Amino acid sequence: MKRIVVVAAVLAFSAGAVVAQQDQVKRTQAMMKDNGKNAGALSAMVKGEKPYDQSTVNAALAQFEDTAKALPTLFPESMKGLKMEGDYDPSPKIWEDKAGFETQIKNFAKVVADAKGKVKNLDTLRAELPVIGKQCSGCHETYRIKKG
Ligand code: HEC
Repeated sequence: MKRIVVVAAVLAFSAGAVVAQQDQVKRTQAMMKDNGKNAGALSAMVKGEKPYDQSTVNAALAQFEDTAKALPTLFPESMKGLKMEGDYDPSPKIWEDKAGFETQIKNFAKVVADAKGKVKNLDTLRAELPVIGKQCSGCHETYRIKKG
């Protein structure tokens, strides 16, 4: 009887861990999708498809900043090898080259912080967006895998 209780407790625990991990994956993907949306909104302004709007810019930069802060916890070791929904998976390099990944996060945080003080109009947005975009793709090139 005692043994059954222990087994049940272990099962309940691992089910909880799976749920927690799915939540984490959802949180990570939601954050990256928001990054994509915000980057798209900024690039529409730069291309002249949308009028310049400071509140959209501020919201986007604030969200990038949140991402930079969250990134160190977005890819816990337990996510290694996990398949995600959508077109991309995290590369195992995130965990194999932790220092490199942390450098990417730091560089991203830095350009976002810089841009926050600078972007006040279309000209400054035009100058800063590629700097941020370069950091997004810099990390993606090495640490994100496009599914075949
Ligand atoms: C430090 C690394 C890093 C930085 C910086 C980063 N990303 Fe990502 N991004 C990833 C990884 C890893 C994935 C793949 C896992 C995933 O989909 O969440 C990803 C996935 C994505 C996806 C696909 C989401 C999906 O599943 O549909 C989008 C869109 C995206 N990133 C946009 C951005 C944008 C825009 C920026 C910059 C403003 C950015 N990312 C900055 C690492 C990064």
